[in-house]
Amino acid sequence: PKIFIITPTYNRITQLADLSRFGNTLKLVPKILWIVVEDAGFKSERIGNFLNSSAIQHVHLNIKSPWDIINPPSIYKGVIQRNLALDWIRENNQSGIVYFADDDNSYDIEIFEEIRSTKLISAFPVGLVGGLYYEKPKCLNNKIVGWFAYFLPKRKFPFDMASFAVSTDLLHKYPEAKFTTNKSYELEGSLLIDLKVKANEIEPKANCCRKLLVWHSKTLAPKRKYKNQVFEQIILDNL
Ligand code: UGA
Repeated sequence: PKIFIITPTYNRITQLADLSRFGNTLKLVPKILWIVVEDAGFKSERIGNFLNSSAIQHVHLNIKSPWDIINPPSIYKGVIQRNLALDWIRENNQSGIVYFADDDNSYDIEIFEEIRSTKLISAFPVGLVGGLYYEKPKCLNNKIVGWFAYFLPKRKFPFDMASFAVSTDLLHKYPEAKFTTNKSYELEGSLLIDLKVKANEIEPKANCCRKLLVWHSKTLAPKRKYKNQVFEQIILDNL
């Protein structure tokens, strides 16, 4: 099956660095569609040009987070962008496996083949997340029997956005299912709860969750002490 990689992204100094790195990873992965959703009121030329020149099969969408309306705003990070991509998959009657990939994470290309073999929903370890070196499903005899997570462990699904993949069959079966913006404590779980997923139905991947193949990394923004002096920066083609 095809993998739909859903990536919300927003304008910041490290955006193109992150997208370039992720794009280079994706160039090594066959049969994918990269759905990039800009958190913006318009599709920027910068990101459009970047995607077109990447030669990766992609869809470029946009929707702006309503930062000004809702408090606290942090619950909106990437949420309505991911929901827009889910709507696009449904409206265009697409079929395959969906993965929610932040633009700044680090991915071993092996993770995509683990994802591809998902039947309905699967999970695997994620590194550098939840205040730990890694979080992971506890796997015994190829069944998930619990979770190794300390950040809000009472969540029904205590895992990161990067730690699961889901079949479009489930999305089509539950056309209203989406991430809920007002449930940041159970952000990942909000979709899974709508999809009526039971914890014991989740397929463990990555060798019974013993292999770490994705990391929740962060790119450090430079301090740019001299930013007002470097006028040349604005004439670069892709800024
Ligand atoms: C954590 C999780 O790992 C994310 O998967 C989850 O989306 C996020 O929390 C959340 O709270 O929603 P974190 O490092 O805090 O990740 O989030 P970012 O990596 O900064 O953002 C997640 C994604 O949303 C990125 O692809 C980012 O480009 C995008 N984003 C972020 C926007 O589209 N708009 C924003 O204003 C901020």
